[in-house]
Amino acid sequence: MLAIESSCDETAAAVIDEQYRVRSSIVASQAALHARFAGVVPEIASRAHLERILPVIDEALAMAGCTLQDLSVIAAVTGPGLVGSLLVGLTAAKTLAWTLGLPLVGVDHIEAHLFACQMSLPPGESAFPAVGLVVSGGHSNLYECRSATDIELLGSTLDDAAGEAFDKAASVLGLSYPGGPAIEAAAASGRSDAFAFPRSFIKEPQRLEFSFSGLKTSLLYEVRGLPGSTVNPPELTSQRIADLAASFQQAVVDVLIEKSRHALRLTGHKRLLVGGGVAANTLLRERLRELSRTDGIQTIVSEKSYCTDNAAMAAIGWEHFRRGNVLPLGADVRPGLVRKARN
Ligand code: KG4
Ligand code: ZN
Repeated sequence: MLAIESSCDETAAAVIDEQYRVRSSIVASQAALHARFAGVVPEIASRAHLERILPVIDEALAMAGCTLQDLSVIAAVTGPGLVGSLLVGLTAAKTLAWTLGLPLVGVDHIEAHLFACQMSLPPGESAFPAVGLVVSGGHSNLYECRSATDIELLGSTLDDAAGEAFDKAASVLGLSYPGGPAIEAAAASGRSDAFAFPRSFIKEPQRLEFSFSGLKTSLLYEVRGLPGSTVNPPELTSQRIADLAASFQQAVVDVLIEKSRHALRLTGHKRLLVGGGVAANTLLRERLRELSRTDGIQTIVSEKSYCTDNAAMAAIGWEHFRRGNVLPLGADVRPGLVRKARN
């Protein structure tokens, strides 16, 4: 299967066999193009996808040692994501499916982030059923996953996604984009208890929602001072940046762990899947291992290279193909795909 992912600012293609073995996975990041805006600019993203999509597909085929004639299925991420970006990947996939006479399969970006957890298990072992946590630049969502393709939203963020909060915090601290890795690096030499940042809804076990805007504002006030105040904030030394980064990271991770614990208790599931760019965070990964020990649950976190956007996780396309879930060539992208929340 050739899989294509272009939902945000990574142009990605992968070749994956029926046993989910990744024969190649190529990701062309556009981070450098968006860095000076400290976030993804949709029009720049779709134009960059157009330039990169064919070379990325060529490289994925070459690295897998195969040609177009060796393929049997074409898969593309159809949503959620940026409409212009998704259109580039889906149009490339449709064109290949049509010219090669192959079935076209649509992949949901969120399901794919969770399916990346399945791919780190040995063959024959299933990652489902489970609670799923997707933490990325666009999402902070908890799901009940009955199977790989049957997932229900339990709760999401009221404002920023976790990755978005990292990106904005990094921008306030004058660190590079994307913010997650930059905050993580700065935090390594800081004290995580230096600042008592807020942790939203952490004491409300029934509430499976996130909010990171209060945390972001608290950080902003520490850096720029309180609005209307005549007192200047302390100088932003490298030690203060490190302490702010470490305290910020600690607050985000505390919330993600506690809310996952609440979701596990409420649903009764004994397994937690974690995917998305923020799942690459070392502190979060350590705390998930701890959660596993203290709460007696199995935590499966995507391999680091499959946390941030990639096409290998679109291996879930095989599941759809086996269920006969094939797309017509007239199918459209689903940029704002939102799952019905549980009442
Ligand atoms: O999954 P992803 O590549 O794209 C979306 O689907 O949004 O996630 C990108 C996000 C960015 O916000 C980035 O700052 C964050 O993941 N991220 C991290 C780390 N690596 C990437 N956040 C915290 N720690 C990291 N090590
Ligand atoms: Zn993603």
